[in-house]
Amino acid sequence: MNIDQPLQLLGGLSPSTFMRRHWQKKPLVIRQAIPGLTAPLDRAELFDLAAQDDVPSRLVIQTPATPLKPWRLKQGPFGRKNLPALKQAGWTLLVQGVDLHDARVRALRDQFRFVPDARLDDVMVSYASDGGGVGPHFDSYDVFLLQAQGQRRWRIGRQKNLDLQPGMPLKILANFAPEQEFVLNAGDMLYLPPRYAHDGVALGECMTYSIGFRSPAAGELAQEILQRMAEQACDEAGDTLYRDPAQAAQTQCAKIPEGLVAFAREALEKSLRDPLALHRALGEYLSEPKAQVWFEGGQNHGDPDQGVRLDRRTQMLYDEAHIFINGESFLARGQDAKLMRALADQHYLSAAQLKKLSAGARELLDQWLDDGWLQAEL
Ligand code: SIN
Ligand code: CO
Repeated sequence: MNIDQPLQLLGGLSPSTFMRRHWQKKPLVIRQAIPGLTAPLDRAELFDLAAQDDVPSRLVIQTPATPLKPWRLKQGPFGRKNLPALKQAGWTLLVQGVDLHDARVRALRDQFRFVPDARLDDVMVSYASDGGGVGPHFDSYDVFLLQAQGQRRWRIGRQKNLDLQPGMPLKILANFAPEQEFVLNAGDMLYLPPRYAHDGVALGECMTYSIGFRSPAAGELAQEILQRMAEQACDEAGDTLYRDPAQAAQTQCAKIPEGLVAFAREALEKSLRDPLALHRALGEYLSEPKAQVWFEGGQNHGDPDQGVRLDRRTQMLYDEAHIFINGESFLARGQDAKLMRALADQHYLSAAQLKKLSAGARELLDQWLDDGWLQAEL
């Protein structure tokens, strides 16, 4: 991707300019980001996905007749009979992770790879009946809200007061103060930075695609990294036992010996001294597949010498020293590292590239093919 080339997708801005001016900073309304867009998934296909138990979905129903409980939230899966009638106004079905299940949606998501893969969360697709929406709220995500079918009226604002209405089953701002209002048509898109207040209401039946980017929280990362580093420290330090042949007889029976404190400190510092430990733990965490993803091995039918492609659900990342794939890490150097990075960036290795891999790297690739993490060219 040429990051300095103006893109229709970004309203004529280049990815570089968009990232500098808007990313995490201010909204952007893009008219006809994808001209003539027809929704990749039609309503029936979306409803089919919402019926699957490995596809997270939610149903939000507005109930104005009960002013004390104006919102109802239900968790999927939803058979068609569990969804309200199409002509009933004011409901929304939200389906997460649609990019994992549909190649067309995955291709749409891939248009946003000017943002690092490690930041991308998923594509959520919403279907709303007339008047449907999820109420005024804010997200902790950066999000591109692509209108895929029909029309939605958006009201947005830089809300300072982020207090929520108490007792609601979903996050609803207590004092929403919109500053801008506009209607998006199919193909139009709205970018919102995190915590920007918004409220989208369907004007007639509509479908909206949210390409969402997660901002990991510092506490979450610390916990995940430390946990992985702890496991590794345990493997490495193994059964080394504390020894205290010089322990003198003591009178303060309950006092923890200084030597034991020093032993614990040394054990901890040893694992922190490994310069790659943090990188490894972070990459493994970030490349972990989503909870509802599992791979079926032994299904490859193509010819792995003709080229290999990442399975749609595989998450492959890299850093200076490692390759990460679906929560596992591998040290890679030289030509192998170059080719593995190409696979992570392009999601593809050609027959000619495959020939250049070392025997060890090729063996790994064959294992990933067998695990269903890669697909061979047919
Ligand atoms: C929706 O698609 O209905 C909601 C998207 C959002 O407001 O984040
Ligand atoms: Co939102």
